Amino acid sequence: MPDIETAGDALAPLAIAAAQGEAYRRRIAAAATTPVDTYGEVLARFAGPLPEQGSDGESIIRELIDKAESGIRATTGPRFFGWVIGNSHPTGVAADWLTSAWGQNAANVVAAPAASAVEAVACEWLLDLLGLPAEASVGVVSGATVANFVCLAAARSEVLRRAGWDVESDGLFGAPEVRVLIGANAHATVFSGLKYLGLGAKRVRTVATDDLGRILPADFALALSEYAGPTIAIAQSGQICTGVSDPFLELAPLAKAAGAWLHVDGAFGMWANASPALKHLTAGIEQADSWGTDGHKWLQTPYDCGFAIVRDAEAHRRAMAVSASYLPPASDLERDPSTYVPELSRRARGFSVWAMLKQLGRTGVAAMVEQDVAVAQQMAAGIAVIPGVELICPAELNQFMIRFGAGLSAEEGDHLTLATVAQVQEDAVAFIGASQWRGRWVMRISVCSIATTPEDGAITVEAVRAAWETVQACR
Ligand SMILES: Cc1ncc(COP(=O)(O)O)c(C=O)c1O
Repeated sequence: MPDIETAGDALAPLAIAAAQGEAYRRRIAAAATTPVDTYGEVLARFAGPLPEQGSDGESIIRELIDKAESGIRATTGPRFFGWVIGNSHPTGVAADWLTSAWGQNAANVVAAPAASAVEAVACEWLLDLLGLPAEASVGVVSGATVANFVCLAAARSEVLRRAGWDVESDGLFGAPEVRVLIGANAHATVFSGLKYLGLGAKRVRTVATDDLGRILPADFALALSEYAGPTIAIAQSGQICTGVSDPFLELAPLAKAAGAWLHVDGAFGMWANASPALKHLTAGIEQADSWGTDGHKWLQTPYDCGFAIVRDAEAHRRAMAVSASYLPPASDLERDPSTYVPELSRRARGFSVWAMLKQLGRTGVAAMVEQDVAVAQQMAAGIAVIPGVELICPAELNQFMIRFGAGLSAEEGDHLTLATVAQVQEDAVAFIGASQWRGRWVMRISVCSIATTPEDGAITVEAVRAAWETVQACR
């Protein structure tokens, strides 16, 4: 049997990864964005048969860097405005590297005492920062998709418990019907959660929204009045295209009066609640029963990180807790991280959450969110005055949309918009993506990085102008 431990210095890859990771970040910070190789080009470099024999770690890591780096999208650069992507801040990355080096499995407190304790502190800080009830429980999950799933599992458990049904033991066959209310412009991943939970992605009562995607309270009240049984209502903070939040001050009392569980998908929008200047946008959010959000968006942690937050900790525990004779239970004074998440074994994400909360502090989070919103507004104003460009919605938060070919037919506008998005990406001064809104293509801009400055905003306005001029010249 080969002695794999003595094939070179087994620990050498750690130093190479650290040095190369740092060098990459310095390059990206200066270059802002870069063109990348395609999937096919990268695949061609990696493709080949499974190696029969192992090799030494140092050469493997060097080969990985050589073959992968030109296919790495510069999402951590200051002019990356695609989807809703945070900066993967170096301090969070360093904590994440240590998490891997320590090899901790955050399944239980005996296996990982430090991970459990740090996660407990970080979760307490998070509730404080986001203005949510201190008694709520928090599961540290892989992102908002899973956070929403976990919260909806707790909701399903509790609304059925109140109807005399134990869904954890008896499943859904024969259970009282659970009605789900959801805004017409909810995020696609919330439907995934409904799908996983047997509640059905299509078996929902869609609630009407206004022109920016906010739930209309009158239709919400009507929907609640249509069914007296177990009900889960799903609102959101941060519509993916417009960034707006639902009117929680109106929705929460209506849900409460009807005995419905109110869940908020707040992947990025609920971070406005951490800013004194912006929290009016999320007023009343703390009145909900559960909240799903991301760490890898506006807390800037590395991927993957999200939080499932549930007011009723017992419902959360019922829906997620796992027990087995070989798993030592935590005492009442200890936190077992697996109690609040779907996985047993998982990485100890609490270290990077703690590190980022320490890095930014309360005022740092507020300042970052406010700066991103200010840059989004500055960019929206700058782009809106370019001839032929139409601002589809204002930047109330960090998201906004524009369309190209104002005054032309809808089809031509779609074509010109997609062409301009492609041109911006090819020019590689900034990265911006496309989306559909109300059936038409738009360029959607998301400002969600601590690295983005007003100067980056100004450079990007010019990049959009240049791309649009190129597209028009080619017509
Ligand atoms: C409103 C909203 N909900 C849910 C999600 C899913 O989050 P994740 O991709 O982190 O699972 C997103 C992602 O952008 C989002 O914007």
